[in-house]
Amino acid sequence: APVHLLVISGSSRTGSLNLALAREACRIAEVQGATARLLDLRALDLPLYDGDIEAGPGVPAQAGELIAAIAAADAVLLVTPEYNGFPPPLVINAFDWMSRARASGTQPAGLKATAGKPAGLLSASPGPLGGLRSMNYLRQYLQMAFAMIVHPRQFALSRADQAFDATGELKDEKAREAVTGVVVSLLQLGAALAAPRGE
Ligand code: FNR
Repeated sequence: APVHLLVISGSSRTGSLNLALAREACRIAEVQGATARLLDLRALDLPLYDGDIEAGPGVPAQAGELIAAIAAADAVLLVTPEYNGFPPPLVINAFDWMSRARASGTQPAGLKATAGKPAGLLSASPGPLGGLRSMNYLRQYLQMAFAMIVHPRQFALSRADQAFDATGELKDEKAREAVTGVVVSLLQLGAALAAPRGE
């Protein structure tokens, strides 16, 4: 079976540069023979983590959608903005909720779905560093709290407001090559880790 890649966008606006980059990553993965699914965290519309919601109605069903999408993927690519040098609250909040979700039916607990799952990181920003600083925190968060295997290769797209043409494709060949490098190495890791399980 082809490698299945889940691409997660962590932007909080419609005209998102990171969403554009996530779409580009999906196209690149499909050219490589993988299947790709784009999951926009904003569209999940999770409430801000609240202990009373957790104690009352329980972990929101949308956290289950995220768990199912991750469980079904051989690898996960996070494409997220940087806010003040840090990963955006939309991303942290969704993963925090997921960490509280217990197993139900055929669905694994949140932390079980992420454990050992290969992850890759991309970011885009109009700034000169492209969101580079936040990726180190996100890497640590995903590795330490979620036991994900975060690929060493990552890429921050700087000047991202000028990076895409009218059709939404990356204009700069070097940038496209860098994104392709991240996607291809992540797909290879996903394939390598999926193989022993016979999936
Ligand atoms: C930003 N932005 C930003 N950019 C950056 O490179 N480093 C940073 O630390 C920050 N900090 C920051 C904080 C807050 C609260 C906002 C709203 C924005 C700018 C950010 O990169 C820009 O808004 C991007 O366009 C956001 O990504 P999307 O939504 O276009 O994907």
